[in-house]
Amino acid sequence: MKKKKILVVTGGGDCPGLNAAIRAIVKSAKKYKDYKVYGSMEAFNGILERPQNVVRLTNRKVRGIHVKGGTILKTTNAANPLRYPTVNEKGETVFEDITPRLAREIVELGFEAVINIGGDGSQKISLALHKQGLNVVGVPKTIDNDLNSTDLTFGFHSAVQEASDALDNLVTTAESHDRVMILEVMGRNAGWIALYTAISGGAEICLIPEVPFDIEYVKKKIDKRYFKGDGFVNIVVAEGAKPKGGAVTGIWKEGAEHIKLGGVGNAIRVALEDIGCEAQVRVTKLGHIQRGGTPVATDRILATAFGVKAFEMVVNGEYGRMVSYQKHSVTSVPIADAVEKYNHVHSRHYLINTARAIGISFGDE
Ligand code: F6P
Repeated sequence: MKKKKILVVTGGGDCPGLNAAIRAIVKSAKKYKDYKVYGSMEAFNGILERPQNVVRLTNRKVRGIHVKGGTILKTTNAANPLRYPTVNEKGETVFEDITPRLAREIVELGFEAVINIGGDGSQKISLALHKQGLNVVGVPKTIDNDLNSTDLTFGFHSAVQEASDALDNLVTTAESHDRVMILEVMGRNAGWIALYTAISGGAEICLIPEVPFDIEYVKKKIDKRYFKGDGFVNIVVAEGAKPKGGAVTGIWKEGAEHIKLGGVGNAIRVALEDIGCEAQVRVTKLGHIQRGGTPVATDRILATAFGVKAFEMVVNGEYGRMVSYQKHSVTSVPIADAVEKYNHVHSRHYLINTARAIGISFGDE
């Protein structure tokens, strides 16, 4: 019998656990015997480029990769098929939805189904391809944990561990120098990494996109400790945090999908100095350290379970759906639900209550 060809894609920013998910898909396919698994290199660029760059994924190829960060299939967050840069007759760059062409090419290559591993942007592409008639299964990943319809995405716990370790290192300097240490972590739309890190590392202040902060309240909290003699304060701030009535800190480039976030930590330092904060303030931006490196055990396990579920969904023909983790179990949801909105930190989330109860300020009171 002719084997069915399945295409695996990793898209968007890399994150710990991608390789574990790829390995689980390949190993599951082996069990079903009548499938062959392939990977498109660098998200869908492997299909769009000439010559095409599609690799066969065998058990040998994925052996031992579950412990490695990144993705053996490479990835990009700069070539969105829904807004693909093309040069028109006038020589201008225009952005075009090329998902009809992409879906056609995948079918012409003989693929039965696509397993698209990615965050919000990637799952929007999954949905568009599914609407073009392609058999698509989505697998959620992102360190930000901001995908709707799943309680957890893999990559998140590895990022929290990195950020938490970094905060532990900063606390000793804060304590020795009686300083204010600001740790800027990722979290574009949602403050999950910042919230978990602040609780885990024992920060005094946590600033997240969902709770716009007032710099006067931030200073008040600092002063309260500083002038009492407990003179050090640790602040964890998500890159997407913004002051009340203000905007996020970042750079907007024409044609880009998102503002390139970064710098809110420094902006807060300057704002504190401007309003007369006496304590010395130092800023550390953790950046991509959170996205790299070895996945923690929880992420390896979650990614493996997601990969296995994704392959089962292919076998059962459950297309247009995304793997989801809910109530300690792995299930699936319509991709359309997953991309409808972000998974924000809700004001009534139990960890917001936990944080406030132990005296962590969100800069809002
Ligand atoms: O979406 C995950 C994320 O880590 C965001 O928190 C961050 O803003 C973005 O990726 C950074 O992406 P890049 O790799 O393009 O700098």
